[in-house]
Amino acid sequence: MSEDPREPQAGLRRYNNRVLPQSSSPIIVAENLTKVYASGRIEVMALRGISFTVTPGEFVAIVGPSGSGKSTLFYLLGGLTRATSGRVVIDGVDFASLNDAERTRLRKHRIGFVFQKFNLLPTLSAMGNIELAYEVSGRREPMDRAYLDHLCDLLSITGRLKHRPSELSGGEQQRVAIARALITRPAIVLADEPTGNLDTKNSDAVLHMLQRSNQELGQTTLMITHNPEAAAVAGRILHMRDGEIVRVENGTRATNMTSPAVEITSTGAPAAV
Ligand SMILES: Nc1ncnc2c1ncn2[C@@H]1O[C@H](COP(=O)(O)OP(=O)(O)OP(=O)(O)O)[C@@H](O)[C@H]1O
Ligand SMILES: [Mg+2]
Repeated sequence: MSEDPREPQAGLRRYNNRVLPQSSSPIIVAENLTKVYASGRIEVMALRGISFTVTPGEFVAIVGPSGSGKSTLFYLLGGLTRATSGRVVIDGVDFASLNDAERTRLRKHRIGFVFQKFNLLPTLSAMGNIELAYEVSGRREPMDRAYLDHLCDLLSITGRLKHRPSELSGGEQQRVAIARALITRPAIVLADEPTGNLDTKNSDAVLHMLQRSNQELGQTTLMITHNPEAAAVAGRILHMRDGEIVRVENGTRATNMTSPAVEITSTGAPAAV
């Protein structure tokens, strides 16, 4: 890519630190994706021809039984693994047309990841993990501390930021991972089981966080989940089975979860409500 990766790309504009869609052309295109894992002589066909598009600002949930290929799809959409065949196009850019450095740059600048296994760096504190994610994203402006405080407050991790991942519970690690993904206000948030390790209260807080970021910052969100209540916050639910999308359903966008006590403002600073 020749353009500065720190500038909004075609189809997006920056407004008051928000990344808003300018058009309804897809921000994510998955085209006939297949993935075969080969370990020795055994081949596993994890994806068998997946096609769908996501328009900017959509909230899509991906559900399906264990082993149906959800995480594999997550890795392909995030450019973390290559498809065996088919294409992934993000913001009009085909991952296959990029070299490794360009792919990494696109990923770091445009996508916020929440991994099923957290993937926090063990030698850094929670805060160090969040700060590092911000640094590598290439943002020019300094990290918005008010926004960080706001995220940490909503995710109830304020008192845990000096601790290393090994000193945090699974749920706390997941909430740190969510703050890390959101601190850069990425155009796309990919989350693999973001509520998988959380109790109901924390799960609601995380879903609210994702939902508000989606609605107020216009972030396109793809969330993998086993939890039907979590999936219901999405506008669209893709059901996977044996490496295929077998059903597409409209979500209900649940509105009865407890509201957080603060709003996300245009600057990210908490505002009293
Ligand atoms: N690195 C790998 N090598 C070989 N097979 C793999 C590899 N990763 C995943 N698989 C296989 O591919 C299939 C899809 O795995 P995937 O992790 O995408 O499932 P999933 O839907 O995310 O499951 P879960 O809900 O348990 O996380 C499974 O049969 C799995 O065993
Ligand atoms: Mg998985």
